[in-house]
Amino acid sequence: MVHVISTINLKGGVGKTQTTIAVSEMLAANYGKKVLIIDLDPQTNATVSLMDESKWLNMDKKGNTIFQLFSDKVYGTELFNLEASIVKNVSNVNSGIKNLDLLPSSLRLIDIQDKLPLVSNSGYFVKTPITVLKESLSKVIENYDYVMIDCPPNLGLITLSGIYISDYYLIPTVPDILSTYGIPQILARIDAFKKDAGIAIKPLGIIISMYRSNNRLHDSIIDSLKYRERKGDYPRILTPYIPLSVRVSEAAEYQTEVSTLGQKYGYDLTEKYNNLVKEIMKYVE
Ligand SMILES: Nc1ncnc2c1ncn2[C@@H]1O[C@H](COP(=O)(O)OP(=O)(O)OP(=O)(O)O)[C@@H](O)[C@H]1O
Ligand SMILES: [Mg+2]
Repeated sequence: MVHVISTINLKGGVGKTQTTIAVSEMLAANYGKKVLIIDLDPQTNATVSLMDESKWLNMDKKGNTIFQLFSDKVYGTELFNLEASIVKNVSNVNSGIKNLDLLPSSLRLIDIQDKLPLVSNSGYFVKTPITVLKESLSKVIENYDYVMIDCPPNLGLITLSGIYISDYYLIPTVPDILSTYGIPQILARIDAFKKDAGIAIKPLGIIISMYRSNNRLHDSIIDSLKYRERKGDYPRILTPYIPLSVRVSEAAEYQTEVSTLGQKYGYDLTEKYNNLVKEIMKYVE
């Protein structure tokens, strides 16, 4: 059975993409899971971290990215070719990790994102963009054990189309005031959408990212998150916390070829990501 998981936070730069990538890499490389990453973010960070940029630009030119899927809905065309748009065995580890696939994003998603609300109001080609991913991807998704959706830092129509097909969502956050500020809003808005759309998505947990040990602010924010977890207001705080590490920003460089995940993230961080993945699998499977 496939498990579809979105990573979401309304705050930018809190580790959504990094978490999506590392969790997916571990699932595929260490646990033999078949994983598809869907990059829904027009910033295309997951895409360019996982595949060769010129290959991606070429695919984008031909309409073999997530852009075409939404563009078809706006203009009533049928140009999207799903099979041609899935890149097999991605990542800079070992020239690509077996069973780790990617549906790339596109910078052009920004333009189409702005047109989507007009389309849903006009009633010409499509009633709602929310069901676009479900209609187009359902069959392919069933071939995977995990589908990880990297969302942009908003709950716009494109993000909601990902939420619509998700069984769970993860909230990566830096344990500081501004990054955690929007958590109640995410929970409330996804809950409202869930009721409206009649879906069963559940929060899987909060991931602490870029954690600085022995930092008083980080520790006190984590204490307050745990307090709200105990009260039942917040979902579980997953462990271990992912530390701030220069290795991570270096690891995002696709051109840097490495042969193992240990080489990519360093021993300590690899172990932490791996234990986080074990925790995720425990709740999901
Ligand atoms: N544990 C970490 N240690 C150090 N740097 C990190 C860590 N996790 C992520 N980063 C870096 O922080 C930056 C933001 O991370 P990331 O892109 O994953 O955030 P994001 O939430 O996806 O951002 P956006 O909202 O823009 O999509 C990136 O440059 C990334 O390489
Ligand atoms: Mg991101």
